[in-house]
Amino acid sequence: MIKLALTKGRIEQKAIDILENCGYDVSELRDKGRKLLFNCPYVGADTAADDCLQIVLAKAADVITYVEHGTCDAGFVGRDTIMEMGGDFYELLDLGFGKCRFALAGIKGKDFYAGYGHKVIATKYPNVTAKYFASRGVECEIIKIEGSVELAPILGLSDGIIDIVETGATLRENGLEVYEDVASISARCIVNNASLKLQNAEINAFLDRISEYLKNN
Ligand code: PRP
Repeated sequence: MIKLALTKGRIEQKAIDILENCGYDVSELRDKGRKLLFNCPYVGADTAADDCLQIVLAKAADVITYVEHGTCDAGFVGRDTIMEMGGDFYELLDLGFGKCRFALAGIKGKDFYAGYGHKVIATKYPNVTAKYFASRGVECEIIKIEGSVELAPILGLSDGIIDIVETGATLRENGLEVYEDVASISARCIVNNASLKLQNAEINAFLDRISEYLKNN
């Protein structure tokens, strides 16, 4: 059995659809109520009867924690969280969905680099932000915000934000624009280091099913 941590929310439904298309019975997940742990037996044609996924629904950062500690063998999580948290695990598959990007954004029409002194950046991703500005040799002060980061430049708290942009609607509807693209993001499959060795055949069979599906769809 493979224990898989799946990020709740944005990428959850698409991940469940893919698992179903790969031959897993996800009916417990389709009718989940407030449950957090689900058994998803493999019902596809190519395997032994005890082939099963146990799926744990968790917040993105916790998916990484569970996989890193070996509590879960594998996880589906966005590259945004991987870039922010880092950690000791294998990142083995780009799942190709949950596509968006990290961008530097701020008030529309403003010259972000104008003027002297350091820049103030509001973000949910302080590590990504620090690394980005360090790589560009730009001094910045980072203010950690928990959500609706777009408010920060509007309210005058920051010169800009580093945040996720998917459709761009949130920026547009709030009079903001992208100044620079920082990195592209999609959902990834990560695997615990020890699990990859100890359950190699099982994990490879799982990854093969998913990559085969992704290749053809
Ligand atoms: C994310 C992100 C932006 C928005 C971008 O927020 O922080 O606010 O989505 O999407 P768009 O480009 O399609 O408009 P999320 O919905 O996760 O909520 P939060 O800001 O409260 O964290």
